[in-house]
Amino acid sequence: MERNIKKFRGEVSRRDRENFCKHRSAVFWFTGLSGSGKSTIAHGVEKNLFDLGLRAYVFDGDNVRHGLCSDLSFSHAARTENIRRIAEVSKLFVENSTICMCAFISPLLTDREMARDIVGDEDFYEIFVTCPLEVCEDRDVKGYYKLAREGKIKNYTGISAPYEAPENPDLSIDTDVETLEESVAKVMEFILEKVKF
Ligand code: ADX
Repeated sequence: MERNIKKFRGEVSRRDRENFCKHRSAVFWFTGLSGSGKSTIAHGVEKNLFDLGLRAYVFDGDNVRHGLCSDLSFSHAARTENIRRIAEVSKLFVENSTICMCAFISPLLTDREMARDIVGDEDFYEIFVTCPLEVCEDRDVKGYYKLAREGKIKNYTGISAPYEAPENPDLSIDTDVETLEESVAKVMEFILEKVKF
C-alpha cells in the first residue's frame, strides 16, 4: 500500500504539557487474571491522583471493548489487536501529559512486549496484579468463570485460554493477601515516584 503521509510537528511539545501539569506522564500497564482486581485498583488510584490534581486516566478492557474495540473477540489475534490499539492510544495520551493506567488481562508475554515497544521502554511500567485462579474463580464477580467452566464461554483466560505471568514486573500486587486500600497505596507510591518532576 502506498502511503503519502508525513508527520506534522505541532508547536506544543510533550515537555510543555508536562510543565503545565507539573508532572511527568507514563503508561502503567496492569496485567492479571479476570477478577484479580486490576480495574478496581486502577480506578481507586485514578481517583486519588485526580484528587491530588494530577491528570490520570484508566483504560479498562471491559469499557474499551464496548467502543474502540467492540469489533474484537477473544481469539489470540483479536487480543493482540486489542492491546495494540490501547498501546497506541495511551501513547497519544502520554504525549498529552496523562498518567495512563491500562487494565487489561493481556495474557501473552509477546503482546505486553509489543505494548512496551509501542509506548517506549522509558515510559512503560508493568504492574502484575496477582491472585490465584481459585480465588478469582471463587470471587466470580461477573459470573463468567462459571459459564466458562460450563463451556458456555470459549477461550476464557485461566480456564480454556492461557495466562502467561510476567517474568520481571516493575511492581507486583497480591490481592489475595493485601486489602484494596493497601494495594491502592502501593500503586500510588510507585506512580508518584515515577511521575514526579
Ligand atoms: S484481553 O485478554 O484482551 O486483554 P480484556 O482485558 O480486554 O482481555 O477483557 C477482559 C474482560 O472481558 C474480562 O474481565 C471479562 O469480563 C470479559 N471476557 C469475556 N470473554 C472473555 C474471555 N473469553 N476471556 C477473558 N475475558 C473475557
